[in-house]
Amino acid sequence: MRRVTSITDVRAAVRGWREAGQRVVFVPTMGNLHAGHMSLLEAARAHGERFVASIFVNPMQFGPNEDFAHYPRTPERDARMLADAGCDLMFMPDVAEMYPYGSEGATRVEVPGLSDILCGEFRPGHFQGVTTVVCKLLHIVEPDAAVFGEKDFQQLTLIRRMVSELCMPVAIIAAPTVRDADGLAMSSRNQYLTEAERARAPALYRALAAAAGRLAAGERDFPAIEREGLRALEAEGFRPDYFAVRRAVDLGPPEAGSAHLVVLSAAHLGKARLIDNVQVRL
Ligand code: PAJ
Repeated sequence: MRRVTSITDVRAAVRGWREAGQRVVFVPTMGNLHAGHMSLLEAARAHGERFVASIFVNPMQFGPNEDFAHYPRTPERDARMLADAGCDLMFMPDVAEMYPYGSEGATRVEVPGLSDILCGEFRPGHFQGVTTVVCKLLHIVEPDAAVFGEKDFQQLTLIRRMVSELCMPVAIIAAPTVRDADGLAMSSRNQYLTEAERARAPALYRALAAAAGRLAAGERDFPAIEREGLRALEAEGFRPDYFAVRRAVDLGPPEAGSAHLVVLSAAHLGKARLIDNVQVRL
């Protein structure tokens, strides 16, 4: 596996593969890789012959009081994991390479509406940072396909919309959420939990799964299901930001006849802000 830090080197490598008729699949990450990230590389295999992963902790998607400075960075371990998984190129730019004029006043890409609801309501500017950096990374790598996790369901929805509206010639592949044995979705931020908090953390998935179960059983009192979710989280010591039933296709309000729903939640537990979701197909 080659490790590069410059946009020029990424473009040169990808150009060579393209000329040889190989399809390129891209997996963007912020590093500190775990089994969830590695499952994206696994999913990538079905869509091409060459694999590119990026590792970039993107300052634009962190709020002023968030964990940008403390976000776990483990580049050597990440590089070994990517190489073992058959990744061909690891792109690890520094902030100046991605934002040569600084990230504050940089040109931005925004998907209005979708970026202001759910997590967007509690993390203003976050999704603008995500769509901006993903748009830039897709322009740099120019992959045939890019893989994103359903763990970040709103992010996936936003990226699909951006790619469609900006006519970007890339297939967006969704990969299912990888969980620990007790149900907790894997996340770099789980490291912020104390041992006692870690033991309570699976309650988030349990609450989502319970709500999904009620929907699957035909219940359609969405506000009652949301209230019960919030109550269950608070009973376990979480401070929930939201617990919401939405249409999976566009995160709009569900209707009695919606065939594909998603239950999403974000909740603080100790120092960590955990997010998770469960889809329901009827
Ligand atoms: P990061 O949190 O590092 O996640 C990178 C990718 O891994 C995302 O597509 C995310 O949905 C996926 N992922 C994380 N945990 C997962 C799990 N338990 N199961 C399956 N997939 C999982 O998401 C970001 O970085 C950034 O916002 C990024 C898209 C890289 C833009 O900066």
